[in-house]
Amino acid sequence: MFGIPLFPEGASTIAGEVDALYFFLVGLSVVMSVLIATLVVTFAIKFRRRHKDEVGAQVHGGLMLELAWTIVPFLITMVIFFWGAKVFLLMATPPDETLNVYVVGKQWMWKVQHTTGQREINELHVPVGRPVKLIMTSEDVIHNFSIPAMRVKADVIPGRFVQIWFEPTKPGTYQVFCAEYCGTQHSGMTGQVVVMEQMAYQTWLSGGAVEGPLASMGEKLFGDLACNTCHRPDSSGRGPMLQNLFGRPVQLHDGTVVTADENYLRESILMPAEKVTAGYQPVMPAFQGLVSEEQLLALIEYIKSQSSQQENANP
Ligand code: CUA
Repeated sequence: MFGIPLFPEGASTIAGEVDALYFFLVGLSVVMSVLIATLVVTFAIKFRRRHKDEVGAQVHGGLMLELAWTIVPFLITMVIFFWGAKVFLLMATPPDETLNVYVVGKQWMWKVQHTTGQREINELHVPVGRPVKLIMTSEDVIHNFSIPAMRVKADVIPGRFVQIWFEPTKPGTYQVFCAEYCGTQHSGMTGQVVVMEQMAYQTWLSGGAVEGPLASMGEKLFGDLACNTCHRPDSSGRGPMLQNLFGRPVQLHDGTVVTADENYLRESILMPAEKVTAGYQPVMPAFQGLVSEEQLLALIEYIKSQSSQQENANP
C-alpha cells in the first residue's frame, strides 16, 4: 500500500484466511471509529447550550434505539467470534498426513531436527505444497517461533511440546523470528524457512552428512540406555510394550485414560512416576537431566516408528 509493506508476504494456505479476518477487523474498527467520532461532533453541535439559563430536556429512554444498540453489536461480535474460531480451528488442526519436523529453541538459536536425520541451525528446509507440522520445545526459557509469511507463531515452552502447522504455497526464503523476549540476544534469534520445489527438496534431502534417520538414532539410544531390558517387544518385560503405543489411549493405574502423544512420551521418559500404566510397578528410573532434548526427540521418534499408525513422516 503506497509502497509501504503493511503486511508480510503471504506464503501459506492459511495466509489468505488470516488476512481476510484481519482486514475485516480493521475495516470494522474504521467504521466504528468514524461513526462514534461523527456522532460526538454532531451531538456537541446539535445539543449545545444556546443561552445561559437553558436547562437540558429530560429523556425517558427509547426502546427501539436501546434494542438496536444492543442487538447490532451483539451480532457483530458473534460474527467476529465464529469467524475467528473457524480460522483458529483450521490453524490448530493439522491434516493427517504431515511432514513432521522437530524444533528446539535455546538461547539464542533454533535447532531443527528432521526425522530423516538432517539437522539445521536457524534454517528450515521444506517442500512446497505439503503440510508441515513443527513439534517444538525449548531447552531453557520461553521462546516464540514465528514465521510471519506463513501466518503462524507459537510460544515454545520448556518441558513440553507445542505444535504448529502450515502448508507453503510458493518457493522462496521466509523470515523466522523469535517473538518472545528471551534474553540479551533475543533480537538476533532469527532464521529462515526455505521453501523448495519437490525436486530441489529431494536433492537437498539426499545431500549433506546425515547420521541416519532420527528413529535409528533413537533405537541405538534405546539400547544404550538399557530401555530394552524392561520394554520388550512382547509382554514379558517389567515395563509396558511400546509397540503400537503412539497415538493410542493408555489406561493409568489410577483409572484415568490418556493418549500416548509426544507430550505423554516425553513426561514418561523424564518423570515416569507421574503417569504409571495400569498393571505395572513404578520402577522406571527418571531420565530427567540424563537425556538431552535431541536424545529425547530421537527416543520419541523411535517409539513412534514402532507404531503402525505412525504419521507418515517420510516423503
Ligand atoms: Cu528466543 Cu526471543
